[in-house]
Amino acid sequence: MTASITPMAPFDLIIFGGTGDLSLRKLLPALFHRYVDGQIVAGTRIFGLARDEQSDEAYRNRVREALQKTLADDPRSPGALEPFLEMVFYRRIDLSSDTGWAGLAAELADESRVRVFYLAVGPDLFGNVGARLAAHGLAGPNTRVVVEKPLGHDLASAVAINDALGQVFAESQIYRIDHYLGKETVQNLIALRFGNALFEPLWKAEHIDHVQITAAETVGLERRASYYDKSGALRDMVQNHLLQLLCLVAMEPPSSLSADAIRDEKLKVLRALRPIDGGSTSQLTVRGQYRAGAVEGRPVPGYLDELGRDDSRTETFVALKAEVRNWRWAGVPFYLRTGKRLAERMSEIVVTFRQVPHSIFDELVEPIAPNQLVIRLQPDEGVKLWLMNKVPGPGGLRLRRVPMDLSFAETFGGRQPEAYERLLMDVVRGNPMLFMRRDEVEAAWNWIDPIRAAWEVSSEAPKPYTAGSWGPSAAVALIERDGRTWHEDAG
Ligand code: BG6
Repeated sequence: MTASITPMAPFDLIIFGGTGDLSLRKLLPALFHRYVDGQIVAGTRIFGLARDEQSDEAYRNRVREALQKTLADDPRSPGALEPFLEMVFYRRIDLSSDTGWAGLAAELADESRVRVFYLAVGPDLFGNVGARLAAHGLAGPNTRVVVEKPLGHDLASAVAINDALGQVFAESQIYRIDHYLGKETVQNLIALRFGNALFEPLWKAEHIDHVQITAAETVGLERRASYYDKSGALRDMVQNHLLQLLCLVAMEPPSSLSADAIRDEKLKVLRALRPIDGGSTSQLTVRGQYRAGAVEGRPVPGYLDELGRDDSRTETFVALKAEVRNWRWAGVPFYLRTGKRLAERMSEIVVTFRQVPHSIFDELVEPIAPNQLVIRLQPDEGVKLWLMNKVPGPGGLRLRRVPMDLSFAETFGGRQPEAYERLLMDVVRGNPMLFMRRDEVEAAWNWIDPIRAAWEVSSEAPKPYTAGSWGPSAAVALIERDGRTWHEDAG
């Protein structure tokens, strides 16, 4: 049972960095699946742009190879591969000179078509690309520009990037991607909270004990050492993905689904976060770095070995305790954690409700566990609501904690679209709801910067943890000090 699809009028998508990892691994497969579903139609053009000289045919071969990996996802897709590739072109461009720009402008001369420029290049190039697009008359009202993180490495650099983009494009033309917002289960959080009357009355400090947000990965540095070692988990995951999830859990009901109504509410949450700075960083945050270990039964080297250096203090793990200072959430901790080379790949949000005020059951037989709402982002996308139930049969009134289980795969069937599929189509249709507005990005950096600054002056190095574990023991202590534990899925 999938939603019906409205085909898009033919458009032009131009990817700067068309031969890069993001393009080949995420963007082109996403576009291909939208084509297979009939959302992208003939007449659409997808241009991969990069510095090297190569023919359309050579580029299509690379794209074909990249797409082969996703063909198994949909039985209809093998037959669609060649017609899709007909829509893919390669153009050579030099971002620092005039090479290629006039030709590009000539090809994109039809102002009536939606043009999406996807800047899958470093943020230091955004300003330059924007200026050249403007100089060649390519920044008109039907133009949209998509930018990827990292949107800076701190508040000042984010402001500079936003200023550079803002000189050429209106805010409504700029789509800042946080791909977590395109995940089905993340969008479902909005549906769950605001499409059901059940949760809202309980969604507050009076009834919620705490919230946990985890994004655990098994991968290590992959091929991104030079980016990642400068970034670290706080900038790479917390500043964007985890804070966006926190916003969706904590925001007030927006008045509508309009992009600004939602983004206004998220912004208020970011601004209400209690600052963590010099004085509180050591109690409220834990950073870690993985050592050699085994992940999914396979031995893996430590971070420093993967990096080939022994002097890096970059964190590959962060756990922290945040607080949203408003009436709804006063006193409710939001525990966030993320890390590389952890025991399993798993992202989830767990909302733990308060205990029943008085138990009428024999607590010695089965203590009453608090209700928990578990929103599983990946893998096994779905929602579980943990409730106390009577164990059927004789033998007295015995209770057991069991989940009401809504697995997306079982309930809706079919393949779950990748985040980029939704997000790219939203750009083409001009819906910025799932994209970050300038002020959100800047508010998030404003909260992150003091944590970073406190770590930098601290004499303490990141705490080591063994690859394949759940992070440093200090992360366990962070939550257990408060008499709580990290959620473990028990079924
Ligand atoms: C990216 C980070 O934004 O998200 C990566 O830069 C991380 O370091 C990735 O691996 C995780 O995304 P997902 O969708 O696999 O959870």
